Amino acid sequence: MSQYSSLSNSLGPVVADLRSDTVTKPCTAMRAAMAEAEVGDDVYGEDPLVNRLESSLAERLGKEAAVFVPSGTQSNLLGMLAHCGRGEEVIAGESYHVIRYEAAGASVLGGVALQALPVAQDGGLDPSAIASAVKEEDIHHPISRLLSLENTNYGRAVPLARINAGVEAGRALGLSTHLDGARFFNAITALGCSERELAAPFDTVSVCLSKGLGAPVGSVLLGPVDLMTKARRMRKMLGGGMRQAGILAAAGLFALERNVARLTEDHQRADALAAHLRALDIGPVTQATNMVFLTPVPGVDLGGLAAYGIATSAPDPACRMVLHRDIDEAAFAHVLSAFDAIAAQRGAA
Ligand SMILES: Cc1ncc(COP(=O)(O)O)c(C=O)c1O
Repeated sequence: MSQYSSLSNSLGPVVADLRSDTVTKPCTAMRAAMAEAEVGDDVYGEDPLVNRLESSLAERLGKEAAVFVPSGTQSNLLGMLAHCGRGEEVIAGESYHVIRYEAAGASVLGGVALQALPVAQDGGLDPSAIASAVKEEDIHHPISRLLSLENTNYGRAVPLARINAGVEAGRALGLSTHLDGARFFNAITALGCSERELAAPFDTVSVCLSKGLGAPVGSVLLGPVDLMTKARRMRKMLGGGMRQAGILAAAGLFALERNVARLTEDHQRADALAAHLRALDIGPVTQATNMVFLTPVPGVDLGGLAAYGIATSAPDPACRMVLHRDIDEAAFAHVLSAFDAIAAQRGAA
């Protein structure tokens, strides 16, 4: 089953939408910042807030330049296409978004091969597996060009030591490096490292503003000027050049200023939910940053959650629940008591 489940028709009013942190809606203050945004034509490079978003985030992460794009998928695609030409190859983890959930865009649009490696327990890749995946120069082989890592991966904040070891292994064999940091700020929150420390090993980094940070739209690709110039050209080619995009950049700037520190709350709630589920003993539970996965034991019917107005997503066989800023104290308490009721009905059917 896809992890991207639509809200079921059987669901009544939604009390807690735990399918993803992408469901977060802009708060009143963010909407006000968007309404007041000073705008210009960003394709001409004249939108002041897009320019501010790109330069301030580049400064924060220690990169030369940045490009504001509509989505994380486009940001990763531009990153891969900026690094790789036709017949070249990206090496990434088999469960990573670039491999599994981006419709093979780099292959379809850029003639780029995607080589998937097993993902380790911590969400990282084994350095020796990276080294063995790099192909020697031979007319039969694709040209190995880019190592693409992901942090967080299924909520797991991949430790810096693991990241650095993988990057070192790839660089020693001539690979460039990209980070899919859709949840970059969840990763630094969990790892306790600085934004620059997490970004430093990578040539290019993609971060999303529209997940736990609560902006309605937008991601930013960051890296050296030459690659960002290529990415900007390809953004235009893909139809991603936006005009008065400052309305969206205003939301992104608001999110970066106001919503990073509070991610700790989502992580704490995820931890509390995981502890509650473990105490109910209804199946194995794993939790990392803002995500909780439950694999219900036979007799526990999670279909019943819909009746409580709770939406989850279902990457087989586990149920995924993502904590985010739109789950307030009352909604969270409701989720805990719904699970109490489901556990009490266990095997009753
Ligand atoms: C790890 C990861 N990378 C990239 C993306 C793509 O982001 P978008 O949905 O903005 O295209 C997602 C989306 O959830 C994601 O989870």
